[in-house]
Amino acid sequence: MTDSESTDNPVPGLPDSLGLDQADPELAAAVEDGLGKVEDMLRSVVRSDVDFIDQAALHLLKAGGKRFRPLFTLLAAQFGTGNTEEVLTAATAVELVHQATLCHDDVMDEATMRRGDVSVNARWDNSIAILTGDFLFAHASRLVARLGSEATLIIGETMGELVTGQMRETVGPREGEDPVSHYLGVIGQKTGSLIATSGRYGGMFSGVTPAQVQALRRFGDVIGAAFQISDDIIDIASPATESGKIPGTDLREGVRTLPMLYALAEDGDPRLRELLSGPITEDDDVAEALDRLRTSSGLERARKTVYGYAESARTELDSLPACPAHDALDMLTRYVVERTR
Ligand code: IPE
Ligand code: IPE
Ligand code: MG
Ligand code: MG
Repeated sequence: MTDSESTDNPVPGLPDSLGLDQADPELAAAVEDGLGKVEDMLRSVVRSDVDFIDQAALHLLKAGGKRFRPLFTLLAAQFGTGNTEEVLTAATAVELVHQATLCHDDVMDEATMRRGDVSVNARWDNSIAILTGDFLFAHASRLVARLGSEATLIIGETMGELVTGQMRETVGPREGEDPVSHYLGVIGQKTGSLIATSGRYGGMFSGVTPAQVQALRRFGDVIGAAFQISDDIIDIASPATESGKIPGTDLREGVRTLPMLYALAEDGDPRLRELLSGPITEDDDVAEALDRLRTSSGLERARKTVYGYAESARTELDSLPACPAHDALDMLTRYVVERTR
């Protein structure tokens, strides 16, 4: 591993578990090369003459992360010309937007741990985390401007949608609105939108047909929603050593995720209902709610929903040509399913 590829904290990594090299060594090498270049670009873009801004902005980047969105951009580009300069720029930009949203999300969710390290808000404070997120957004916008007006319009729309999802989650379902359809709408907006754009950019800047760009976008939308449901399952089912985050963050914040909504609808566990009636503040109550959710039918049902989304994602792949990139996206789909187990 070269220095530019290494992360200072390897906790929640991704590519090894995908097995891309077993499927197609040439594609795997191109993607690995692209990810290395994205890493270099991330580190060179996020620079400030003010030391402190540098430190705060690089904190999340150095902590690691799966680089799922740039990976998807690079994989999508494998349907076309591969790692062009524009593809690499787009892949870097979507990761920067993602990291900006993480800075803001950890403020909103009062999270203390991210990517196996202390979160920006916890290491410094909320103001620093908000400004760091803004700084990353600014640099993402600067990068996307290099890609032309269509890409700029797309990222503007994507950010608008993502923030709308975060806002709707914060406010909760409207009076009489079905909480499950509210949840599914929210995750499409807050997570599906940026992942869809990641694939769309990969297609757009590698010269694939407009129909294929749309298929990559739709695949991203669906796999993005599945990815978020799996993240919500992990918040309940996995230890911090695997997720790099503190389990039960959604419970503490009073965010009702799909496993909770299903458990409430089905389980008839009055104690769980009581615990989930609002944000949980006591550690013992969080631990108890986690225990009850881990054995609830809600968790299993949420896993089945992920499988259903994965099936829909595979249907979108049907309109893309059979090639190593197609197999790679199939593997990406499998990864999203497997991480919920
Ligand atoms: C976390 O995203 C937020 C979600 C949308 C689920 P990732 O799970 O991709 O986070 P990193 O980039 O690997 O840290
Ligand atoms: C992450 O959402 C932020 C966005 C998708 C914009 P979550 O709050 O669900 O994700 P984690 O669990 O903190 O990573
Ligand atoms: Mg969060
Ligand atoms: Mg959140």
